[in-house]
Amino acid sequence: MPAAMAGGTGGAGGGGGRALDCRSFWKAGAFESASAPSREFHDALVAGDFDRARVHPKFLHTNATSHKWAFGAIAELLDNAVDEICNGATFIKVDKSVNLKDNSTMLVFQDDGGGMDPEGVRRCMSLGFSTKKSKKTIGQYGNGFKTSTMRLGADAIVFTRANRGSNVTLSIGLLSYTFLRRTMKDDIVVPMLDFKIQDGHIVPLVYGSQGDWDSSLKIILEWSPFSSKEELLQQFKDIVSHGTKDILLRDQDKASGGVTKAQKEIVQQHISHRLRFSLRAYTSILYLKKFENFQIILRGKPVEQIRIADELKFKKLVTYKPQVAHDSQVVSVKVDVGFAKEAPVLGIFGMNVYHKNRLIMPFWKVLQEGSSRGRSVVGVLEANFIEPAHDKQDFERTPLFIRLEAKLRQIILDYWKEKCHLIGYQPVDPQLRSQYKAALKDSGNPGPKSQQKASTSRRTGGHTSNLLPETYDDTEVIGLTANGSGSRVRSFGQAQENSMEPVGLDENSVDIGSEGALDPYIMEKLSEENIGLFTRREELRQRDTQLRQTVGELEQQLAETKKKCAQLADDLRIRKSQQQQQPPYI
Ligand SMILES: Nc1ncnc2c1ncn2[C@@H]1O[C@H](COP(=O)(O)OP(=O)(O)OP(=O)(O)O)[C@@H](O)[C@H]1O
Ligand SMILES: [Mg+2]
Repeated sequence: MPAAMAGGTGGAGGGGGRALDCRSFWKAGAFESASAPSREFHDALVAGDFDRARVHPKFLHTNATSHKWAFGAIAELLDNAVDEICNGATFIKVDKSVNLKDNSTMLVFQDDGGGMDPEGVRRCMSLGFSTKKSKKTIGQYGNGFKTSTMRLGADAIVFTRANRGSNVTLSIGLLSYTFLRRTMKDDIVVPMLDFKIQDGHIVPLVYGSQGDWDSSLKIILEWSPFSSKEELLQQFKDIVSHGTKDILLRDQDKASGGVTKAQKEIVQQHISHRLRFSLRAYTSILYLKKFENFQIILRGKPVEQIRIADELKFKKLVTYKPQVAHDSQVVSVKVDVGFAKEAPVLGIFGMNVYHKNRLIMPFWKVLQEGSSRGRSVVGVLEANFIEPAHDKQDFERTPLFIRLEAKLRQIILDYWKEKCHLIGYQPVDPQLRSQYKAALKDSGNPGPKSQQKASTSRRTGGHTSNLLPETYDDTEVIGLTANGSGSRVRSFGQAQENSMEPVGLDENSVDIGSEGALDPYIMEKLSEENIGLFTRREELRQRDTQLRQTVGELEQQLAETKKKCAQLADDLRIRKSQQQQQPPYI
């Protein structure tokens, strides 16, 4: 093992300055303590260096699998750039690139945020250390970078440039599962290199010994896509003032998936389907508020943000007051609820739950599938009073969350009861139902008042015109109590087993436009037809009931007749036998 890989003494022998030679992944953020050795376990025992737990590289894999969905992992890297808006970030670019060493595909994420200084990049590489203290940031757990990069590829290299006062630093960190596994490491080692700009020149920043620095360089050159120090430094060329570039190595075979015929068909469908395979579709709804001065750029093309709430018709605003703990601030959650604009043709439904501006649960089906109630009802809310799970694809299943689920169910059902006739369903309310039927009868065609009202709303857009505020109290529904720098990352190397899905960066698969939307006139026609069909269905149901009644009565008559018949047959048989027993009259 090269000296620098041992890394144990480097931190302490840092030549006066603060030791930053923390190449052990697990304690990259522990700057104050002497950096620990990554000698063989036996050596550690002999040396009495037994004062810390070790983190096996397999732990990286364990963490990587916390992201079941590749897009969920990508979102973590987007979040890190979005969290840099407060430090001046104006974009995050996501691109494919090629590893010239073996022609494999790489994913590149680059932002122009504040970047990371040598200390920051070590925090970034540490598990569970987050620099984010603000209540507004999406990041909070200190894991997103590690879990997502290891989910997307087996190896990641970070290039980051930071301006802190008059200090301009460039740092490189390599988190390589391939390197750790192939060299049979039993501890996680993250080689890092730092430079500073001095008098216009790039000068190495050596915190440990020169030997450690050279060794880190050697490992990075051996296990990254870059073959020389100059090639590494080239990566900073497009990080002009500050920012971060993450490069993730991918499995080329799986990455080149493209768009299948079946996928293309789905592309025509609603965003609730497309977001599962189109990164552009997913990122278009990933953040609740539209950015003022920030763009997500996928393969050179900015993502057009979509506010799901703006896409709803017959929209209603419901205010929900969850019973949070007594000492916390009273929160009030606004839930936008409405019909998907394609309703009733498309029956998609579900709640989109955001947390601190970030989509956690897209089109969450709080109602059971299969029932027509709630069909096409879509909702949007920002639930900051509950905590997301670590993969930010779900929420912690706390009593508060369960109460929210029950409340959302109620909101959907109430909405359905009030408005389902507007998309052609029979009203649930009996009074409304008889009015509706009378209207249908009077007009002699499927164009009753309620329908005309619906049509008008549709023509005028039907979005804000139907906004009706309403307040719900959080009653006990189910009996539970409530309680000038920047960076760039690259991913490269073999993807972890079963970890790569086509990310859908292909332009065709990622576009979201209005072409999927139906012409309002056709929608209107379809709705009219739908109402006609429902009326017909109701008539047929009644006839069906009558017929069943008749069949029942006839079956009863038949049974009685059969009984009589049997009795007669018995009588006849008895008489016949009596006749046979009497002597013949001569
Ligand atoms: N693109 C970036 N620009 C600047 N700093 C970054 C960037 N990405 C990561 N960091 C730094 O690395 C740290 C760790 O990032 P990571 O995503 O692992 O955790 P987090 O964002 O703090 O929390 P979470 O696990 O909730 O995402 C961050 O707190 C931040 O200081
Ligand atoms: Mg993060």
